[in-house]
Amino acid sequence: MAKLIIEDKCVLKGDVKVHSAKNAILPVIAASMLTPYTCVLEEVPYLDDVDIMEEVVKSIGAEVERTNSSLTIKAESINSFEATYELVRKMRASFLIMGPMLARIGKVKISLPGGCAIGTRPIDLHLKGLSLMGANITLGHGYIEAYAEKLRGETIYLDFPSVGATENLMMAGCLAEGTTIIENSAEEPEIVDLASFLSKMGAVIKGAGTDTIRIEGVKELKGTTHTAIPDRIEAGTYMVAAAVTGGDVIVEGVVPEHLKPVTAKLKEMGAEVQEYERAIRVSALGKLNSVDIKTMPYPGFPTDMQSQMMTAMCLAQGTSIATETVFENRFMHINELKLMGANIKVDGRCAIIEGCEKLSGAKVRATDLRAGAALTIAGLCAEGRTEIEDIFHLDRGYIRIEEKLKKLGADIRRVEE
Ligand code: EPZ
Repeated sequence: MAKLIIEDKCVLKGDVKVHSAKNAILPVIAASMLTPYTCVLEEVPYLDDVDIMEEVVKSIGAEVERTNSSLTIKAESINSFEATYELVRKMRASFLIMGPMLARIGKVKISLPGGCAIGTRPIDLHLKGLSLMGANITLGHGYIEAYAEKLRGETIYLDFPSVGATENLMMAGCLAEGTTIIENSAEEPEIVDLASFLSKMGAVIKGAGTDTIRIEGVKELKGTTHTAIPDRIEAGTYMVAAAVTGGDVIVEGVVPEHLKPVTAKLKEMGAEVQEYERAIRVSALGKLNSVDIKTMPYPGFPTDMQSQMMTAMCLAQGTSIATETVFENRFMHINELKLMGANIKVDGRCAIIEGCEKLSGAKVRATDLRAGAALTIAGLCAEGRTEIEDIFHLDRGYIRIEEKLKKLGADIRRVEE
């Protein structure tokens, strides 16, 4: 298994370019199952999660071709309607093929996505919406089987603005009979990007990015070409790393609007943040001030940035509070940060972080994707050597993070054990 070794603290300086958003590309790959025509995705990063999604669509019969950074997908003949346990357990987002499969061929058999480190991650809202649209859903032996002669448009209220449920139902609505209205829908930029991809295929969608999305079902969708939005979480990770190491970094290829909550909080901590058209510059001199964050669905502070922000809080002056409202178990990074000297207490959904003078390098373990990012940032600020194990979690959402950080001045390397 590979691990990251960071020899000592550093000050990050320079510029770094972010890749296309993992959480935009995964639903777009699933959406390409809605048409028999060719879809071409440009600037697709080599991320493990993208590889898994490619496996999932290939397993149901899509032709997939990877040439450099573009991905060509053609689901002309879907010859299976089953997404196996082996694939789905690797990545929860595999579940996003359920809506497209029901819309395209009227049947799907998919393994129940297991929970993961950050929570049980149920799919009740996905199933509620699809059964309202006419799908006949049965559960058994760890699998979900769903059939639908023809999905029909319905008005669906989401008890929680679930990103995945909004995406699944939006894709299902594209080929349904009549109008589908998703109320209390997720408003994330990745939802808007998926809607733009679907619209280019001929879908009729209004309201993406608001809390109500209206989809008029059409007979057929065509192929198209698409470049996903930049990865706002990768960008936010480098912004926090720049600020907490007292550095000066330009994060390129971003949409500053997507990073407003992170920008606002870093400014509250005393960092300098300058927004350009497609870049953000973050610099900080000396210690940051404490700050409170509360994770919320977009446009609130993103849960995917909570652990990285907590690392910055560990070294801020004063007491900070991080409240995680989206997932029920997204504090696994705390025990690892405490091995490095962090002073954090957990009280239910709140973590109280007393800023400390310094962090010290230690052997730690990535428990999930964003926890791995938080520990990497901690290693960049810690005195002495930090070793981070289980970095396969990191490779799901960051391309060779050590190479980008090395370019910014970090003494970091990947060691294959
Ligand atoms: C997406 O996951 C992202 N993944 C996650 O990013 C992100 O943390 C999350 O949205 C929230 O922003 C992808 O886009 C591939 P949800 P998703 O459905 O769709 C509850 C990362 O680090 N819920 O919005 O699974 C659920 O339990 C990953 O890149 C239900 O109760 O998130 C959770 O508490 C981690 N019933 C909350 O909603 C449902 O049917 C948010 O889940 C569905 C969800």
